Amino acid sequence: MVVAIDGPAGSGKSTIARRTALATGGGLLDTGAMYRAVTWTALEDGVDLADHAAVAALAEELDLDLGTDPEDPHVRVRGRDITAEIRTERISAAVSDVATNTRLRPVLQRLQREILQSAAAQRGVCVAEGRDITTVVAPDAEVRVLLSASEEARMRRRAEELGLEDSAETRERMHDQVVRRDRDDSSVSEFLTAAEGVVTIDTTDLSVDEVLERVLALVDAAR
Ligand code: C5P
Repeated sequence: MVVAIDGPAGSGKSTIARRTALATGGGLLDTGAMYRAVTWTALEDGVDLADHAAVAALAEELDLDLGTDPEDPHVRVRGRDITAEIRTERISAAVSDVATNTRLRPVLQRLQREILQSAAAQRGVCVAEGRDITTVVAPDAEVRVLLSASEEARMRRRAEELGLEDSAETRERMHDQVVRRDRDDSSVSEFLTAAEGVVTIDTTDLSVDEVLERVLALVDAAR
């Protein structure tokens, strides 16, 4: 079974996807981590992000180790552990330039389908999270969910995630990371409104446990 979870920055999809994978004994595929890993590598190698062919070529050859075990989510490129580094603001600020590369997207989407199918075959379930899972990567997934939340809630969560105190400066930075990134990202895939057959869960006023309960109810119904 494939569980596809899409949503904007700060919608809680990483937490919910991981908890869903842990609760079902399934694998976990964080597709955002792949766009971040390509961004990290391109910056590391001095590849111009505007050179779409060069970035796509780099992704074709990328020596990427992406753990699908929700107990041990890690990202390694060329043997180097970059799990923490890909979450920094430097990468968050640059990743949309990579995600809007239309030559690169099919390369990563193909790889994502392979990982998803192999993890689902191995573990019975694989949970994949991103922006285009319910629509492009796995439109036939048994469970398709779109998580939404107000801008205010999403900026607050992202600041908490980064351990930042509430201030005018924090809010400005979070606006860039959440609202600006959504605007840039939405030029490639529509992830703010649900496609047909996709269940929307508005998480603004729900706890993590409440959201998880709803996702697990959909998993049970699909079994
Ligand atoms: O989910 P996360 O914030 O880690 O995603 C990082 C970036 O990767 C997003 O801002 C978006 O640009 C890109 N992305 C994407 N398609 C996906 C997952 C992520 O374009 N399926």
